[in-house]
Amino acid sequence: MTEVDWTLSVKVPDKINTNNMNVFLMLVFFTFFITHMIYIIMEEVIVRRHAKKQKLLNENQKIDFVGTLAASTAHEIKNPLTGIKGLVQLLVEKHPEEQDQFYYSVIMKEIERINSIVSEFLILGKPMVQTLSLYDIRSIIAELRPIIESEARHFNIEVEWNIIKEPTLVHCTKDQLKQVILNIAKNGFEAMEVGKKLRIRIHHENEWAKIMIIDNGQGLNEKDIGKVFDPFYTSKKEGTGLGLFVCKRIIESFNGTIEFSSKPLVGTTVTISLPLIKDHT
Ligand SMILES: Nc1ncnc2c1ncn2[C@@H]1O[C@H](COP(=O)(O)OP(=O)(O)OP(=O)(O)O)[C@@H](O)[C@H]1O
Ligand SMILES: [Mg+2]
Repeated sequence: MTEVDWTLSVKVPDKINTNNMNVFLMLVFFTFFITHMIYIIMEEVIVRRHAKKQKLLNENQKIDFVGTLAASTAHEIKNPLTGIKGLVQLLVEKHPEEQDQFYYSVIMKEIERINSIVSEFLILGKPMVQTLSLYDIRSIIAELRPIIESEARHFNIEVEWNIIKEPTLVHCTKDQLKQVILNIAKNGFEAMEVGKKLRIRIHHENEWAKIMIIDNGQGLNEKDIGKVFDPFYTSKKEGTGLGLFVCKRIIESFNGTIEFSSKPLVGTTVTISLPLIKDHT
């Protein structure tokens, strides 16, 4: 080998240089692209989070506003209303003619309506930190049953009761729990046609007392289900849209939860869950 006259030379073709350049440019491009994408995604997440926070803030401001409005005006409305009611009662006795009696009954009905709206406003104005007492839901239901039955007769609807035999103790305030059940039952009546059936079921599920109010009325579509607990959301001509909003506030103040599930033309189930008190000694 040493005797042969030879030289070895290597020439790197220009093509490899060009390839290297291309790879480098591609890398730069991809790095830029990926960084840009990450930046866009992060910005989107931040904007969305901000919008969600803002929405919550607006919701809370709305609730605070309603609360303040309620606290400052509800009492002022209730007092003169009681006076008007008393005077109409006097007129009812003074003018027995059929036509007059009809007018008075309309006035009384309207006064009752204002009264019930104002009562809901009063609850909104109340601070929700309150003293809860121990009650057996079954005894609350026993007191409520005649009221719901009479309301059902008014709507021409049957009520089926399915109440657990065992004690069902929970921490709550009696009148407020009654109001919640009545509000939900009334929604059921309003959603059903004559001749249908409302089912009220009380049972235990693990550590929870469950109150289920089930109707087979018109139901609600998925889009609107998300709005039912919003203040002032109503699909009714004469509704205030405060019923379920107030129910939710009350149930949450008992450390419970309330769920609304519905299917158009099939019906609606509202489930209230309250922590079951087992040992009350
Ligand atoms: N059982 C139900 N079936 C179908 N839709 C319901 C039912 N319960 C509630 N909804 C819907 O949710 C809306 C809000 O109910 P909510 O009780 O808060 O107010 P409302 O009944 O409209 O008015 P208010 O209770 O003040 O008379 C109703 O207008 C209705 O559209
Ligand atoms: Mg209602």
